[in-house]
Amino acid sequence: MNSPKTILITGGAGFIGSNFVRAVMEHSDWNVIVLDSLTYAGNLRNIADIMGNPRLTFVRGDICDSQTVRNLFATTPIDFVANLAAESHVDRSILGPDAFIKTNIEGTYILLEASRQAWQADKDSKRFLQVSTDEVYGSLLPDEAPFDETSNYKPNSPYAASKASSDHLVRAWHHTYGLPTIVSNCSNNYGPWQFPEKLIPLMILNACESKPLPVYGDGLQVRDWLHVKDHCSALLAILSRGKTGHTYCIGGKNEVANIDLVKLICDTIDRKLGRAPGKSRNLITHVEDRPGHDRRYAIDPTKICREVGWSPEMSMERDLPRIVDWYLENLDWVNEIRSGAYQDFYDELYGKRLKAMR
Ligand code: NAD
Ligand code: TYD
Repeated sequence: MNSPKTILITGGAGFIGSNFVRAVMEHSDWNVIVLDSLTYAGNLRNIADIMGNPRLTFVRGDICDSQTVRNLFATTPIDFVANLAAESHVDRSILGPDAFIKTNIEGTYILLEASRQAWQADKDSKRFLQVSTDEVYGSLLPDEAPFDETSNYKPNSPYAASKASSDHLVRAWHHTYGLPTIVSNCSNNYGPWQFPEKLIPLMILNACESKPLPVYGDGLQVRDWLHVKDHCSALLAILSRGKTGHTYCIGGKNEVANIDLVKLICDTIDRKLGRAPGKSRNLITHVEDRPGHDRRYAIDPTKICREVGWSPEMSMERDLPRIVDWYLENLDWVNEIRSGAYQDFYDELYGKRLKAMR
């Protein structure tokens, strides 16, 4: 009998990482090692329900620390690496790009090198999955076809450029060294355990607390939203059935303009909290636009659907109200992570913008 595989999931205490760890525990017999340095965005509470499972090992460590990473490979035979550790928030990358360059580029390099050295003797059954974003492709015009695997890289923000750089490293390590890599480029995710600096949880929580809802610019920017559960099922499918050296674009064909999404959240909150219809929409405040703000992202998922047999199961219409419920039911989690450090960031980003609107 074959012994179960072991997967190293970096960033497994973050939003997508914690959902992915849970998906792997539920849908495979693999052992899981989570490597996470627990930055402001990482939280052990995100995986508290599965921490006692003997198949899961948590290691607090930095992917930029080559000693830690090499030790992990030396002490445990690792079959798969899923790299989700990253600095992930565009606004933070504009305020301070350093950590993005370090973690997203240098950290990926350290992981690639450790995998290459550890897998020299037998790499056929191994996989290195780089979890990336559609933001590497830049911005689409309203009538342009969605991004697919053939789209050119044209990153516009420091975040997107750092992710693009790491994708290029992964490509080169496959091409030059034959490392069995796969890159996935996914659209915007929503779901439980998303840090409340991102659009959907921020708007849910501000609306509940009757605080201003800061919409950047005219709010007509478009994002292609995918439930995190669907992203995780896609990652599992790619690891099991994807081809090495390939890229897979992941998206649910769900383009929504920011302002429409914020209105949808407002109306959902009004219904849930028994407010008069339209009350929460009064909180919408158009603020100064994000510098270099990409106008539209959209993904054509034909390749992953056809070649890997994946399709999304969640729908925003049905599942967004459930996500609103999740945040309302988990206010302890929210309050705990809205630490002093997060409050400082919030004040720095929004303080001037909101004041300018008064
Ligand atoms: P997140 O910010 O919620 O979580 C990132 C996790 O990585 C945190 O747990 C953090 O502690 C950890 N981390 C950061 N720096 C680290 C380091 N140097 N060493 C070890 N751990 C470190 O991010 P997320 O939204 O869950 O995104 C996960 C991945 O998915 C990222 O690579 C991101 O680019 C990609 N992605 C995100 C989205 C999205 O909509 N959120 C969409 C497509 C792709
Ligand atoms: P975000 O969740 O930061 O994801 P990304 O920038 O990676 O797409 O933002 C989603 C969209 O919402 C993006 O167009 C920026 C916009 N936005 C606002 O209008 N107001 C906000 O307060 C935030 C956080 C985002």
